[in-house]
Amino acid sequence: MSLINDLSWRYATKRMNGNKVAEDKIESLLDAIRLSASGFGLQPYQVFVIENPALRAQIQPIAYGQPQITEASHILVFAAWNDVTEAKIDSFIQLVAETRNVPVEALTDYRSAIAGSMLRLPQEVQASWAARQVYLAMGTALAAAAELKIDTTPMEGFIPAKLDELLDLSAKGLHSVLILAVGERDAANDYMANAAKVRYSKDELFIRM
Ligand SMILES: Cc1cc2nc3c(=O)[nH]c(=O)nc-3n(C[C@H](O)[C@H](O)[C@H](O)COP(=O)(O)O)c2cc1C
Repeated sequence: MSLINDLSWRYATKRMNGNKVAEDKIESLLDAIRLSASGFGLQPYQVFVIENPALRAQIQPIAYGQPQITEASHILVFAAWNDVTEAKIDSFIQLVAETRNVPVEALTDYRSAIAGSMLRLPQEVQASWAARQVYLAMGTALAAAAELKIDTTPMEGFIPAKLDELLDLSAKGLHSVLILAVGERDAANDYMANAAKVRYSKDELFIRM
């Protein structure tokens, strides 16, 4: 299975060489993120695609000075919804109706299922549910990038409140969850470039029943 080779090739890159990733590869990566699964299909997040070097220089101290922020070709900031509202559910149902060419009225049960399970949750639980969908999108992105032979670093190592402030996220009803640095490894200067993958054995990881 070639995906296994791709996943063995990828690693959380610590140093990148500043080379630009070809636009068609970036678009393929964004296509893959767009196709990621999410609860109810709601995609309760938005992804900021940041190439601007000046903005990335501002983000770097917020990410504890991690070099990938400025050495990457692009960084993606995954920001989750702060809440799930009736209006957001309605907008999604509208999209389903248009995409599948069915009347909105035919989607009443679907809408009720989403509303019934999401709207009763406290706002902070809605926000954390949305953040969990972001992690799934990140997983999809990591696998897709590996297949595209793009190097990446998934990052939780930043101060979310400061990034939210810089990107004015609360005004957009969002909060930052993850950063993905996207670029090309600087193998000569990256101590992790040739490090063996550390993973539990299958016997330890899987409980077969
Ligand atoms: C959610 C998440 C957050 C992470 N945050 C950082 C980070 O801020 N900086 C970093 O260099 N690596 C970060 N990593 C990379 C992990 O340390 C790395 O994925 C793990 O050690 C496994 O190694 P591998 O991805 O190279 O196979 C993060 C990984 C994940 C999944």
